[in-house]
Amino acid sequence: MTTRAKITGTGMYVPERVVKNDDLAALMETSDDWIRQRTGIEERRYIDPGTQPADLAYAAASNALESAKLKPSDIDCVILATLSAQADFPGTSFFLQEKLDAGEIPCFDLRAQCSGFVYSLSVANSFVRAGTFRRVLAVGCEVHSTGIDISTEGRDVAVLFGDGAGAVVVEANDDPSDPSEILAVNLHAEGRHAKRLWVEIPGSGNTPDRITPEMLAQKRHYPHMEGRFVFKNAVTRMPEVLRETVASADVGLDDVDLFLFHQANLRINEFVANQLEIPAEKCLNNIQRYGNCSAASIPILLDEAARSQRLEPGNLVSMTTFGSGFSWSSALVRW
Ligand code: COA
Repeated sequence: MTTRAKITGTGMYVPERVVKNDDLAALMETSDDWIRQRTGIEERRYIDPGTQPADLAYAAASNALESAKLKPSDIDCVILATLSAQADFPGTSFFLQEKLDAGEIPCFDLRAQCSGFVYSLSVANSFVRAGTFRRVLAVGCEVHSTGIDISTEGRDVAVLFGDGAGAVVVEANDDPSDPSEILAVNLHAEGRHAKRLWVEIPGSGNTPDRITPEMLAQKRHYPHMEGRFVFKNAVTRMPEVLRETVASADVGLDDVDLFLFHQANLRINEFVANQLEIPAEKCLNNIQRYGNCSAASIPILLDEAARSQRLEPGNLVSMTTFGSGFSWSSALVRW
């Protein structure tokens, strides 16, 4: 018999430094109006010099462990989703593991960009169901502020992103009377669109050198995004995978109590909710305050939902993503 897996704790952390749209408008040709109208974003958080991604991940993980009433030494494995790793190698998860002082437990980074956290949740769920591990820490962590072009040339991407981390503890649920469970997760990808939203440099595909002064001068180390193409694909793929996941758990869309969408653009999420006729009061968004935190967006939102009593035991919560790769995914969880 397989062991069911459930989420027993959530946590988040964002840096204290608030960067408002007007702060960016002082550095590039943009405006608070343009950013709000097109994306819903009002402000985002940036790290201060010296702060490391693992510091954000550690704060979020500590909060998740505390809410699960566990110590770091209780964890069997750490999975950290990121597209903004602390170093080229090893993964940010190793720096986090050192900070947690959790013993010689395995840890690894998972690279599925904005879908990374739901991909991690799927891996954690499979580990627990297979009996490989009983307690897995799944983290999403991003520091975008050091990797965006904060100038008029880079404004289409720069205004969107923020720094932050979110985490959950996934544990075995052996109690037949406890309905809490990760019910279904569906993952998809379409690599033929990899270059529609990507960072090229540094990359081992660049020969003979991964990075040169010329490449830096051409700003190829900053994200390149075909915004309209990404938008169109997001509003198609997100409803598709959400329906698939709800159907695979054998429930109806109406049965879902709370919908969490990846926080890339409030207009994308409104479009998706309209298409599926999901009432606005069943959707939670926080992009207004944090911008797009990629792999960290969903666990940050989940933690805010849990701590603001938007989630009651027994509720059904849906999490749906779309991002670079392209990658898209959806998870349905009985709280
Ligand atoms: N401030 C002011 N003007 C800006 C700007 C900014 N930050 N960024 C772009 N513009 C300008 C463009 O230069 C363009 O000017 P032009 O008409 O003179 O050429 C105009 O605004 C329209 O640009 P466009 O890229 O067509 O805007 P858009 O309506 O598609 O909105 C996005 C841009 C990025 C908000 C939108 O495409 C989007 O959200 N895409 C999806 C992004 C996403 O989800 N990314 C992450 C996935 S995980």
